[in-house]
Amino acid sequence: MSEVSVTKDAAPAAEDLVVLDNVNKHFGALHVLQDIDLKIARGEVVVVIGPSGSGKSTLCRTINRLETVDSGHISIDGKPLPQEGKPLAKLRADVGMVFQAFNLFAHKTVLENVMLGQTKVRRTEKQAAETKARALLDRVGVGNQADKYPAQLSGGQQQRVAIARALAMDPKVMLFDEPTSALDPEMINEVLEVMKQLADEGMTMVVVTHEMGFARSAANRVVFMSDGRIVEEATPDQFFNNPRSDRAKDFLAKILHH
Ligand SMILES: Nc1ncnc2c1ncn2[C@@H]1O[C@H](COP(=O)(O)OP(=O)(O)OP(=O)(O)O)[C@@H](O)[C@H]1O
Ligand SMILES: [Mg+2]
Repeated sequence: MSEVSVTKDAAPAAEDLVVLDNVNKHFGALHVLQDIDLKIARGEVVVVIGPSGSGKSTLCRTINRLETVDSGHISIDGKPLPQEGKPLAKLRADVGMVFQAFNLFAHKTVLENVMLGQTKVRRTEKQAAETKARALLDRVGVGNQADKYPAQLSGGQQQRVAIARALAMDPKVMLFDEPTSALDPEMINEVLEVMKQLADEGMTMVVVTHEMGFARSAANRVVFMSDGRIVEEATPDQFFNNPRSDRAKDFLAKILHH
């Protein structure tokens, strides 16, 4: 198995945008990621689901190196993750991340929030950054909120601004970690619709979510994690209609009968 991985490492298939090869990570005694092998093709939408504490967020965070790994390799677009410095900042810009909490800068307007990364990291000229920010805010349906401060927006609107902000960097891949779980129910769909649209447009996406409707309609593949391992990978149809592992069956029984 390791021989195969080495070969693939040396010449990753052009269509694999994100590759995790035998990744392990511990938090003290806790083995939070165990032998994770995961390849995400360009344009693919992968939904990651699993019980609380199974390592889903940690997996996402390793992909933009918010967490380091103990062993194994991660590459994006054929290049290993940079350790530090400017290359790391560039990587973070290439990997858009949207978290459960919106993480917008409270003292900056919506427009400024979406311009900031462009001018600071991408060195885009201010006027061009503003034009792009306004276009992206329109695209996620909050163009008329551009001059407000985040606290003046609903949770669903703030989350759509967070998506626009990530998109402003022209990311190669977008990571979403439970982007709707802090939202009031009536705001969940407006965020999921923006994500569905992105998926339809061909964005490569890794989405941790309990929204099974989204998984069914937008995902090419479901990855089920339990206790730090990928236990099952399947198409949404296969996974939801015919899960193979007992752990996936248990998990689905719990979430679908709530
Ligand atoms: N910085 C940290 N230090 C120590 N332990 C951590 C840290 N971050 C996460 N953990 C632990 O690692 C395990 C996996 O956490 P992680 O957040 O990846 O799970 P998750 O699948 O995203 O769970 P949830 O569905 O609740 O968000 C948990 O047991 C968690 O307590
Ligand atoms: Mg989590």
